[in-house]
Amino acid sequence: MSLWGGRFKKVSNIHFKKFNNSLNMDYRLIKDDIKSSIAWSKILLDIKILTNCEQKLIEKTLKWILKKYICNINEILSSDSEDIHSWIESTLVKKIGKLGKKLYTGRSRNDQIATNLKLWCKRKSNRILKEIIKLQRNFFNHASLQQNTIIPGYTHLQRAQPITFSYWCLAYIDMLERDRLRMLDTIKRLDISPLGSGAIAGTSWNINRKKLAELMGFSNCTTNALDSVSDRDFILEILSTASISMMHLSRFSEDLIFYNSGEANFIELSDEITSGSSLMPQKKNPDILELIRGKCSGVYGSLISMFTLFKGLPLSYNKDFQEDKKYLFQGLDIWEDCLKMSSLVLNNMKLNSLRCKQTAQEGYSNATELADYLVSKGISFRDAHHISGKIVIEAIHQNKYLEELDLLLLKKYCSIIEKDIYQYLTLESCLEKKNAIGGVSKIQTKIALDNIEKRLISLEK
Ligand code: ARG
Repeated sequence: MSLWGGRFKKVSNIHFKKFNNSLNMDYRLIKDDIKSSIAWSKILLDIKILTNCEQKLIEKTLKWILKKYICNINEILSSDSEDIHSWIESTLVKKIGKLGKKLYTGRSRNDQIATNLKLWCKRKSNRILKEIIKLQRNFFNHASLQQNTIIPGYTHLQRAQPITFSYWCLAYIDMLERDRLRMLDTIKRLDISPLGSGAIAGTSWNINRKKLAELMGFSNCTTNALDSVSDRDFILEILSTASISMMHLSRFSEDLIFYNSGEANFIELSDEITSGSSLMPQKKNPDILELIRGKCSGVYGSLISMFTLFKGLPLSYNKDFQEDKKYLFQGLDIWEDCLKMSSLVLNNMKLNSLRCKQTAQEGYSNATELADYLVSKGISFRDAHHISGKIVIEAIHQNKYLEELDLLLLKKYCSIIEKDIYQYLTLESCLEKKNAIGGVSKIQTKIALDNIEKRLISLEK
């Protein structure tokens, strides 16, 4: 039976009923609806709508429902209830009779769904935050091991300056740290309970909304009921956070897809996470990385769908909102999955250090060092840049590295150059010179690693 039977003389058209139902989506809110319902029952006890015994029985039955059905979702889905709220209500009433109906005093599905969605976001975010920390740890493990592995750093996908693989990992740890902090901030803002807002204008019962919020683990309650039942900003925020993080994961994937290419050949992905071609026997494809990169679109799609869904809606609740679950769930499921898959990649790849170093050596990535050397001898950087460029052309012409050019030849371009230039031009020296905060030198890398390690240890507790 529907929740509004009294006002209607005819039953719903079966096609409309199917179209209107959201149970196949919002069954995922079962835990949250039961949590908020138990809290509500306690408030009904405070205002004497329920007796002590009645509240206890309702609470016990709600917990029983959760335990019985959480592993039996198909049974929920086979019911013809409109949504998870009505399903819980009818299951409760079936079990304890009329008393079950009392639970719905003063509460609307409008404040119920807004509350449940926030509870769901809080639960999901805990899992996601753990995955972010795990992924940071996996980057950290590589970063500790690969402090001496030199790779070329790129701009415009052209070899620019040498870096280390460790340093590359540290860059992603920093990106993920911003994602983590953004997520915490998002959660802080959504941690406000809408329950007790009623349908749109508040509840006529004299309830303690702050206590109600606390009972569900919220830090406070909302201040305007009209806004509370129609606010879905938190979905936009959480999906924006997810989108930014997915953008990071897509760049990570792209870097590794390139590192794994035959042309770069810096890394090898284990057989366990690669797949073959049905036609070309030699192929070992980085599908996992391409999928992370590709699935990013699903999260952006969710975010844009949400913006489109909410745009221009009149206050307050509109049934359009029912569609929000689909995109919220889709976006955050993809994000969680891709974080897990990124960890899997890091745990299943090997570095080809020799090849990395050779490539770093090949691209004249020490040309900036040559210019800096000239500057240290009193030449202006603009002139030094020009002279360096000429020497690079000479080296290309001779098919040699800069450090292989003869001193006499170098002197032809600038008489100031002395023997000490060769020390300057080694990759190691290029790295070691970058010793200001955030640079690639061994010392700075060590400082970054120590800070990250401390943070990770405290987060993993
Ligand atoms: N299934 C609905 C939703 O997800 C629950 C709220 C229904 N409220 C209403 N006034 N029809 O938005």
